[in-house]
Amino acid sequence: MARVPEADLVVGGPTRQSIAPRRTGPTLWGSTTNKGKFLVHLEKRSKDAPWDGKIVELGPDVADNATQLTNLTRFREELGKIDFPADQTGFSPPLPAKLPADFHVAGTTACQVCHGEDCSSWSGSRHGHAWKTLLDKGSHVDPYCQHCHTTGYGLPGGFASLRTGSERVNVGCETCHGPSHAHARKPSIKTLYDARDRCVQCHDHENSPQFDYESFWSLIAHGEPAQEPAKTN
Ligand code: HEC
Ligand code: HEC
Ligand code: HEC
Ligand code: HEC
Repeated sequence: MARVPEADLVVGGPTRQSIAPRRTGPTLWGSTTNKGKFLVHLEKRSKDAPWDGKIVELGPDVADNATQLTNLTRFREELGKIDFPADQTGFSPPLPAKLPADFHVAGTTACQVCHGEDCSSWSGSRHGHAWKTLLDKGSHVDPYCQHCHTTGYGLPGGFASLRTGSERVNVGCETCHGPSHAHARKPSIKTLYDARDRCVQCHDHENSPQFDYESFWSLIAHGEPAQEPAKTN
């Protein structure tokens, strides 16, 4: 909380969305959440005017602050050392008390043998590169980022931690189709999820403001007929 001459100013959260400064009685208040993506810029239009302000988004045109960069590096070093298991972060989905038999993530490579074409188109998509995106930023250590850039975060067989999770990175098939170990073993057993309902778990207002099902689906459209796995004898 900062004091300005004629009124209190409260900048706080967590309000999930930033709120531009507004006045309640003598108090000017606003909110700069989310996650340091915004600042409140305070100004007086003239010497005698009351304080006013606006929300400024910290986009690429705002220079990084050296102290905060050092803090961020230290924070990530700590996260990397701790390597929080998915089931301890609060980002993993609650599991139903009674799980279907064989509710287990098999991994995208397990689909390859019968869904080769879908696997190739997926490899070329951004879902197939979602982990590299985090690696390039050094934020792969952050569970908040992990839970949307991996497969089956916190689910049986899904991404569990950095140390153990290397085969469940990227937004793989079972992100949308659900843990499919049973199906991969016996294709007559259907996959579990209604895939089109999954998108908005990650394509939310904050992380994918342009999301629209039809136009986004057209960029990843797939679903070629499955091939018989080659017989080995
Ligand atoms: C052994 C071969 C085989 C493997 C391995 C396999 N599938 Fe399939 N898959 C099939 C066949 C055959 C069909 C068509 C079956 C049908 O429609 O009854 C199918 C259908 C599907 C369908 C559409 C019908 C449904 O069940 O919803 C999805 C989605 C699917 N597979 C996803 C996957 C995923 C994800 C994996 C990897 C975890 C995978 N499959 C692994 C053979 C396989
Ligand atoms: C588990 C989280 C998650 C789910 C569920 C998910 N996505 Fe994504 N999606 C991502 C991430 C993360 C990216 C960005 C990957 C990158 O570039 O690193 C992305 C990127 C995309 C892109 C590329 C956008 C572009 O600008 O090129 C499309 C298209 C897309 N998703 C469509 C979908 C659709 C359609 C669904 C639902 C059927 C869906 N996604 C479900 C996480 C998810
Ligand atoms: C709630 C799910 C979610 C979380 C949490 C999340 N992301 Fe993403 N991320 C997405 C989706 C969805 C996209 C694709 C957005 C689009 O194209 O519309 C994406 C795209 C990106 C992109 C590509 C942006 C671009 O256009 O080039 C970067 C970089 C990224 N995420 C980094 C991060 C980092 C770093 C974190 C953690 C601080 C993070 N993400 C947390 C869902 C998420
Ligand atoms: C981002 C989410 C997402 C990912 C990742 C994804 N799919 Fe799909 N998939 C969908 C959606 C949505 C549909 C269309 C379902 C519908 O029309 O109801 C679909 C359709 C399919 C179908 C046809 C289903 C049918 O009923 O005919 C198959 C087979 C399939 N996917 C396999 C795969 C495989 C294999 C992978 C991994 C290489 C994969 N999918 C990755 C969302 C996804």
